[in-house]
Amino acid sequence: MSNSPSKIEPLSRVFRDSFQVREIARRFGTPVYVYSEELLEEQADEALAFIEAPSFKVRYAMKANPNANILRLFQRKGIEIDASSGDEARRAIAAGIPPGNILLTSQIIPQEFIDLIRQGVNYNACSLHQLETFARFSNFIGTRDISVRINPGRGSGGTKRTNTGGPSSSFGIWHEDLVKVMDFIRRYSLNLRRVHTHIGSGSDPEVFKKTCRMSLDIVARFLYGGFPVTTLNLGGGYKVGRMSYQESVDMQEVGSFVKKQFEDFQRKIGLPLRLEIEPGTFLVANAGAIVSEIKDIKRTPRYTFLITDTGMNEVARPTLYAAQHPITVVTRRDKNPFKKTGEYVVSGRCCESGDILTPSKDSPEELQPRVLRQAEISDLVVIGGTGAYCSGMPIAGYNSYPAAPEVLLRKDGSMDLIRERGTLKQLTQNEVKVI
Ligand code: LLP
Repeated sequence: MSNSPSKIEPLSRVFRDSFQVREIARRFGTPVYVYSEELLEEQADEALAFIEAPSFKVRYAMKANPNANILRLFQRKGIEIDASSGDEARRAIAAGIPPGNILLTSQIIPQEFIDLIRQGVNYNACSLHQLETFARFSNFIGTRDISVRINPGRGSGGTKRTNTGGPSSSFGIWHEDLVKVMDFIRRYSLNLRRVHTHIGSGSDPEVFKKTCRMSLDIVARFLYGGFPVTTLNLGGGYKVGRMSYQESVDMQEVGSFVKKQFEDFQRKIGLPLRLEIEPGTFLVANAGAIVSEIKDIKRTPRYTFLITDTGMNEVARPTLYAAQHPITVVTRRDKNPFKKTGEYVVSGRCCESGDILTPSKDSPEELQPRVLRQAEISDLVVIGGTGAYCSGMPIAGYNSYPAAPEVLLRKDGSMDLIRERGTLKQLTQNEVKVI
């Protein structure tokens, strides 16, 4: 495996072939997000096979891609939901997800949290303040069942910006505050049902395994303290390689490690413990791609820039994290039979020098030209690995470009529009005219 930019990345597995890419561009225009039903289902099956246990549960971290059709596709598979805001929970309910299948883990207390919990949404307190607020309202809420998210003191992310454990992360209740958590729970007669940890996105599997042990120790402390925890949720963060030289986590290997830890735990403690995981990236990242068009080609003495009609509006990850996404040129016609190549910086359409799809992997500020198939204006460009944190995490509306549509490629080869292209009107309709 080479990490040299001189290696041409293969076309995203979302597509059967380049004819299909051209057909999508012709039917739906560019830029357009495309998801493969088959790959989404494949990933769902793999996540569900993480461990074999009847009580094992997978929750989809819907922030990765909240389109209602995707939520329902996973629901059909028996996957439940991790929501990270009150609005996400409401969106899932509106998509038809039963409230009881949603775990709400939010950095702030949603305004409508009482109503959501009354509907059956499970609440995961992420701070002492959240725990106290839940406790104070528990009479109105009608349940005393609660989860707590603990920062186990250690984290691991693909970048520092996606690390959510350890002292530099504000997510969850610091693990040394367990006594305070226990005091609250006792004082307000709450029922602690679930302990939750999530240490980051794109985590190192070895750190994940260590924090699995640390999380089990936390559960043990609660159990010894007389709190009958029934579930440990280990969060998401399962590493996914988007470029061919990047490694993906071996879910089976990590799963069998976790299973063994749970079995040892149960043997020691004598009580069964249910496992939940919350993958986002793993379920959707490589099941999605963007099709865009090359609108211009510009040269400086140093670089040749392909100017595409996508970029940070649709995929913010390269700009935010120097994330590497596979890029493939699909020529409009099958000219170029000799498969000539060129070295290109691929740029977005925004009036912003940071709108670059090929940053150096060490810094979003440095350019890293890639070797691609020789390109011309009006050829297409496919950006792979864009099923997660792209349509759901856009730099939306910048330069007044409306949101791109989303298309689901069905298993039978048909194509369904699952979100229409946005409009300029949607960008301005909430403005209030005072001048
Ligand atoms: N559970 C919780 C509580 C989370 O906060 C997250 C992600 C997940 C599960 C799912 O993590 P995943 O399996 O997707 O790594 N925008 C970044 C990722 C931020 C993730 C935030 N929380 C990216 O584009 O990589």
